[in-house]
Amino acid sequence: MDYEFFKKSADYVRSVIPCETEIGIILGSGLGSLASCIDSPVEIDYRDIPNFLVSTVDSHAGKLIFGTLAGKKIICMSGRFHSYEGYDYEQLVIPIRLFKLLGVRKTIITNAAGAVNTDYNVGDIMIIKDHIKLNGASPLRGKNVDEFGPRFFDVSDMYSKSLRKIALDCAENSGLKVHEGVYMFFTGPQFETPAEIRAARILGADAIGMSTVTEALTAAHCSMPLLALSVITNMAAGVTENKVSGEEVDIAAAEISERFTEYVKEIIKRI
Ligand code: HPA
Repeated sequence: MDYEFFKKSADYVRSVIPCETEIGIILGSGLGSLASCIDSPVEIDYRDIPNFLVSTVDSHAGKLIFGTLAGKKIICMSGRFHSYEGYDYEQLVIPIRLFKLLGVRKTIITNAAGAVNTDYNVGDIMIIKDHIKLNGASPLRGKNVDEFGPRFFDVSDMYSKSLRKIALDCAENSGLKVHEGVYMFFTGPQFETPAEIRAARILGADAIGMSTVTEALTAAHCSMPLLALSVITNMAAGVTENKVSGEEVDIAAAEISERFTEYVKEIIKRI
């Protein structure tokens, strides 16, 4: 996958939608309702984009949507890619690199996450301030594509301080409980064991999930400012007596979806 490989996807998208976009958005599990608020939407099916990937998760729509949201030109990925679907880590750079080549200047990522921090509740939001990834490979593994960034790169400020500040300010009138915390990546597709969750807590995690970090690392590599928001859809394994299920995650995401959409719109307005 050299620079030309990624450019082929971007050239196709530009040939269908020849407009500039300012903000890129990637929507997580069950959080697709934001997509229905986009004004003058133009959609491209992932399947039609050369060298792109195809979603295999039911709650992910699998399309790229262009349009206006809260007065800003945006491109939205409704449906994202995870390593548990069988993609190689190296392939997971593709979405953010497409954003970069389309001129996106800031990216917002959303996800559903399980709470490790027992002060959190289902329906809360966590602004990700840092992450822990101790398993799975780096998406930047393999030959470096110098056009995007250097071989070795800093990740101490991956989650933009200024975007986090805006997200915190927007929390005030949102009716949502918003925290700032550390997200820990687990590969999935199985949920974690209670022992893994206890370990995650000792390591400093506040919430856990199976996405986001590959995109965040790719964004850091190409110097793309990033805001990542987790919707707490469940307490992580062993925190309560309940078993964790995909259904519970989808139900909780759907319940909060409307307020969360308003919150994200407000953030976009102020960016
Ligand atoms: N674990 C991993 N990923 C998740 C969870 C969880 O508990 N909830 C939502 N995504």
